[in-house]
Amino acid sequence: TRQIPKEKGLDQSLTLLNEGYQYISNRRRNQQSDIIQTRLLGQKAILISGEEAAQLFYDERYFKRKGVAPRRIKKSLFGEHGVQGLDDAEHKHRKLMFLSLMTPERLEEIKKITMQQWEKKVPEWKREDRVVLFDEAEDVLCRSACEWAGIPLQEEEVEQRAREFGDMIDAFGGVGERNRKGKRARDSAEKWIQGIVKQIRAKKMNPPENTAAYIISFHRDHNGKRLDTHTAAVEIINVLRPIVAIGRYVVFSALAVHDHPETLPELRAGEDTYTTMFVQEIRRYYPFTPLLGAIAREDFHWKGYPFKKGTLVMLDVHGMNHRADLWDEPDAFKPERFKEWKGSPFAFVPQGGGDHYMGHRCAGEWITVMLMQTSLEFLTNHITYDVPEQDLSYSMVRMPTIPESRFVIRDVEKRRG
Ligand code: HEM
Repeated sequence: TRQIPKEKGLDQSLTLLNEGYQYISNRRRNQQSDIIQTRLLGQKAILISGEEAAQLFYDERYFKRKGVAPRRIKKSLFGEHGVQGLDDAEHKHRKLMFLSLMTPERLEEIKKITMQQWEKKVPEWKREDRVVLFDEAEDVLCRSACEWAGIPLQEEEVEQRAREFGDMIDAFGGVGERNRKGKRARDSAEKWIQGIVKQIRAKKMNPPENTAAYIISFHRDHNGKRLDTHTAAVEIINVLRPIVAIGRYVVFSALAVHDHPETLPELRAGEDTYTTMFVQEIRRYYPFTPLLGAIAREDFHWKGYPFKKGTLVMLDVHGMNHRADLWDEPDAFKPERFKEWKGSPFAFVPQGGGDHYMGHRCAGEWITVMLMQTSLEFLTNHITYDVPEQDLSYSMVRMPTIPESRFVIRDVEKRRG
């Protein structure tokens, strides 16, 4: 048995909040180790990083998810009784419900809807002195998500609903007011969507059968029972909210184009392989998900290190995207690195690793990549704009993060040719 290098101190929850995305990388550097024992959220925790660590993390013989998310995260970001906290047969069955939404036809549809929603913004933007891209992206994606999912959205409520999804996402690493805002947003959104689920079940509202609204409202769980209306609402929100979250990657894409203007002609050439590489590099380079947690099911040893049943284990998602053993020049923005990339389910894990069906890997990874490409095509090929002087820096402490200015653009014009 080997000893896991241990961080001193009582509890590092505050250190985590103070160091944000760099928390695990900093511990790795201090300890010169990819496995570190610490205390977080009032309990013993083990931090792990690297490809083999990710492989371990996604091995369901050793880990479960029930009880991982703290209450304040369930009350704001995730909701209660949702797919994120399920295990085993119950999880696989629920996961299949999400994955059944992701057929090629339905993916094409959300792509088309989203491009249309972006296009509709152009006349409005032409009249504005300044356009805050982050706010507009959340608005566009909220409209697209609802339209695609079969959720009716009145023009008067778009702003409120988009902000609610945004606030839930923003609550992740927030304490105090930011977390309270996320909770209020969730309460309001759950009430709204529960009302819709009831109407769908009563046949007073009839969304198409291939939509999330319909499929989740009538889904039968592994025990043959319908989800209660609250859980159905939580799961519908688990489709809508993360589509709105793609707005953060859209803003980082715009920032990357601004910081690396040499990519613009390549992007404008519209070659699929280049935009795909570019989008992958956005998901690698920019911070979004900092870490993921799971709980050891039993006592076991890994590489000689002891893991005790019930221990919280955290995987270094952000740090893995910048590891020198996985990426050359990890801190350089280089889309071309994905040209020869073989694709490993455990090395590149911005939206989780492993298998989408068998484990907890993000159900919306395809939508994310696709809508990032669509949005990038819109921004680079369909319009032109100026980026005035502003503070484009983003905090590596705040989780999730976004450029300070939220990316302001002006002098928007339709692009010709
Ligand atoms: C799970 C990230 C977009 C639906 C996850 C996980 C991460 C993640 C890190 C957890 C993986 C794990 O627990 O092992 C992201 C990011 C997104 C995004 C960064 C884009 C900004 C989406 C979209 C959808 C979606 C567009 C749906 C349309 C889900 C669902 C889960 C999940 C349902 C739970 C899967 C499970 O527990 O089995 N996502 N996601 N996500 N994501 Fe995403």
